[in-house]
Amino acid sequence: MSNQWLSEMQEQKIEELLSKMTLDEKVGQMNQLSPSIVGGFDLPFPELIEMVTEGRISHEEFSKIMQNAEMDYQEDNIRAGRIGSFLMNNPKKSNELQRIAVEESRLGIPLIFGYDVIHGCRTVFPIPLAEACSWDEGIFEETARIAAREARSRNIHWTFAPMLDLSRDARWGRIAESPGEDPYLASLYSRAKVRGFQGKKLDAGDNLAVCLKHYVAYGAAESGQDYNTVSMAKSLLYNAYLPPFKAAVEEGAATVMAAFNDFNGVPCTVNEYLLREVLKEKCGFQGFVVSDANAIDDCIRHGIVADLEDASKKSCIAGMDMDMNSHAYSGYLKQQVEAGEVPEALLDDAVRRILRVKMALGLFKNPYSPEEKHTLYDVLPKEHVATALETAKRSIVLLKNENILPLKKGQKIALVGELADMSSEIVGSWSMGFNVEDCVSIHQGLLNAGADVSYAKACGVTSPFQPEELQSVVKDADIIVAVVGETISMSGEASSRADLSLPGEQEKLLEAALATGKPVVAVLMNGRPLTIPWVDQSVPAIVEAWQLGIQMGNAVAEVLLGSYNPSGKLCCTFPAMAGQCPRYYNHPSTGRPGAKSKFSSRYLDAPLEPLYPFGYGLSYTTYQYDNLTAEQAKDMIIAKVEVANTGDCPGEETVQLYVQDITASLVRPVKELKAFQKVSLQPGEKRIVEMKLPKSSLGFYDDDMNYLLENGEFNVYVGTNSKDCLMEKITVIF
Ligand code: NOJ
Repeated sequence: MSNQWLSEMQEQKIEELLSKMTLDEKVGQMNQLSPSIVGGFDLPFPELIEMVTEGRISHEEFSKIMQNAEMDYQEDNIRAGRIGSFLMNNPKKSNELQRIAVEESRLGIPLIFGYDVIHGCRTVFPIPLAEACSWDEGIFEETARIAAREARSRNIHWTFAPMLDLSRDARWGRIAESPGEDPYLASLYSRAKVRGFQGKKLDAGDNLAVCLKHYVAYGAAESGQDYNTVSMAKSLLYNAYLPPFKAAVEEGAATVMAAFNDFNGVPCTVNEYLLREVLKEKCGFQGFVVSDANAIDDCIRHGIVADLEDASKKSCIAGMDMDMNSHAYSGYLKQQVEAGEVPEALLDDAVRRILRVKMALGLFKNPYSPEEKHTLYDVLPKEHVATALETAKRSIVLLKNENILPLKKGQKIALVGELADMSSEIVGSWSMGFNVEDCVSIHQGLLNAGADVSYAKACGVTSPFQPEELQSVVKDADIIVAVVGETISMSGEASSRADLSLPGEQEKLLEAALATGKPVVAVLMNGRPLTIPWVDQSVPAIVEAWQLGIQMGNAVAEVLLGSYNPSGKLCCTFPAMAGQCPRYYNHPSTGRPGAKSKFSSRYLDAPLEPLYPFGYGLSYTTYQYDNLTAEQAKDMIIAKVEVANTGDCPGEETVQLYVQDITASLVRPVKELKAFQKVSLQPGEKRIVEMKLPKSSLGFYDDDMNYLLENGEFNVYVGTNSKDCLMEKITVIF
């Protein structure tokens, strides 16, 4: 957060407040808690969690128990100024706690309420990985805008979003929460999310402070296993993993969350180089950093601190401003300052940053949320639902189509697969505020659209294939639509998978559907790229529909029935086999690029190529690219290409421009996305698409974070995806 948010007078007010604060009160600001559960059930809480995880009780039973549990909101500690923030979504209770903080604590500093508003609040939009496939900044901004409005009405001030971890390994469950594998697209996404959540003025009353997470390189967790270690060259950090964060800081992001992982041996939570040097000094970040949940405590298991006391000291020295739930700062920081182990100036810096965000949000002036607003979005406004539908449609990626889609008018559809009829599964991970009555399953969506559809489950995601159920609906059908994929709990946090094929017996379902001789469409509903080479070979039409939020069913129906022509492009590579992971298009050039020869960078037992490349996505029409030119004019590279709609329906194409630096002092990626442009073309229409690129965007960082612009040769590629491109070589002199 730059000081664009605060006036000099406000900064001065913060200094005055700071000068009045006791050490206890300073530590209090740095302490974030969740309401703790004190009773209401017969078992210890960890045992209860284990029971849900192991499936001994259902999620529904668990929720019931939780609703009856008694919560401890630490009112006395709030009164004593020992708490700065709560992680909660309970508007009425938040007001009550705020009243204690503002009216009964010595200095009356308001609390800041944070919550995970990740891809929507009451209105759930597509999972971020899906939304990023729209390649549409307007959409990125608008969905955040709506989420902010809804969340702020519920007394939430601060969202733990956007998640900006570049994700290049489909095994990592949290790829679902990310905008994919590319730094350029992720940076556009990150800027748009800051604009959407924070609005023009953070204190306007319907905005949220953002929290950029997880800082940093969490997506590079070794072998795609969650919470795993990360080792990488600093140049890779600066060129790939840092840019989305840097862009969002430039856009005015208020807060950052440190990642769980270690970075080159030092957990991000206690990483002074990352927090102070890179983020606060080099990127000029003026807001505050919060730890991830219990992450200060986790440093003990990392083996980098002796105990929680040591963890408290190391985190504060490293530049961690707020402790989420570890009880480390509240337990030890005061005595560490008194003992001279932690300079008080570090606490001042942290508290100043926290107060800045509270001030910028207008919490000193308007600490409470009007009660009449708490239920404002219980019935969703039409415009929010319309944006949910539009976003869902734009997020769908057509992966294959052998003249099957769109379905012909009047065709009788046999709809199969458990996921087709599960309205609670369409929202994806990290959806907490929605009402299941607002969710439209694919089955319901087809019925809403007036399709002639008969449904049978026939196969669960994990429960066995039932051939007789399939037969019961296919007899009279003209076409079979099989919805297959993953349940929500198979992606997101703590949900890495080593096998990325379709879970359970869903492939058997597809095989049996094909054996009927009727045309088959596979609709995928999943939170990550799946390895589906057999499906790609055998099933004539494949629609990647992800988990698209509350309007999923209506969106999928529009695509299947042809009232919407899909235009989504993959923001992540689909590997052919899990053994290819991490697989991403913009990997560094090797000395022996993968080829037919044995002595090239390849596997003996896997195809050379991934299944679908980054940027890939078909349409109901076709496009032809011709006559690429690339020229230099002053500080710009200008690329022009002819794009023609060669099919028989109107469509929107995303024209993509990639660059490869072929004579650099460091090994550079084989291709890097640098620009794209969307064009709408009528059948037979041809247009010259011009894309301008500042020459300065052709540079890169070295290991010391120097940005280098090196003269030399570059390949300029323009095409419909990262693989199928035209190419022109240019020599650039800076
Ligand atoms: C842990 C997750 O890693 C993070 O993304 C989330 O914001 C926090 N928990 C708070 O719920």
